[in-house]
Amino acid sequence: MVDRLIAELSSHKPLDASRQRALVLAVAALVEMRDPVTAEHSARVGNLSAIIARELGLIPDIQSALRLAGLVHDIGKIGVPKAYLQKAGKLTDAEMAEIRRHPGLSYEIVSEVPGLIHIAQIVLHHHERLDGHGYPAGLAGDEIPLGSRILCVADSFDAMVTDRAYRSPLPLRAAIAELERCAGTQFDPAVVEALKAHLLRTSLQFP
Ligand SMILES: [Fe+2]
Repeated sequence: MVDRLIAELSSHKPLDASRQRALVLAVAALVEMRDPVTAEHSARVGNLSAIIARELGLIPDIQSALRLAGLVHDIGKIGVPKAYLQKAGKLTDAEMAEIRRHPGLSYEIVSEVPGLIHIAQIVLHHHERLDGHGYPAGLAGDEIPLGSRILCVADSFDAMVTDRAYRSPLPLRAAIAELERCAGTQFDPAVVEALKAHLLRTSLQFP
């Protein structure tokens, strides 16, 4: 699989959509070998991002692009020491700085794939905040690509409702309340509303 990946990356031939997808899935599988928890999370983030995009009325091509972006958004964590990613206690400033390199590393990997620069851009900005206090670029409001704003909400929501090494999952109702609390500062309110609309239709536990 790695040989195929390297061959594809160095071919510089334009890839059609199905080969792009195959390549991204191969990369996602590599991440899964090292870090199954991140890989499962990424698959859910991709699905949820596509759902939010549909809820916002975006076309199917964009929904698919977001599914792929979700799959690879944390690929850069492959370049961050595992001990930092899984640390239960408080991170030092230096450890936090290392972790904050991961969107840039994800961008470097994904942008190497011919035709995926738009996915790479979405991935690069998935930890930006609407108020400009996110990373890596400190973009604010509409400067943040819409795809990144969607990915950010899907990523944060999934992190809240699933079990982590350092805390137990939030109940759905509490996770929604947290998204609402941070809408307008961390999250795009329209994206939060779209996710809520989906959850209202599909979840028996909410409201
Ligand atoms: Fe991330």
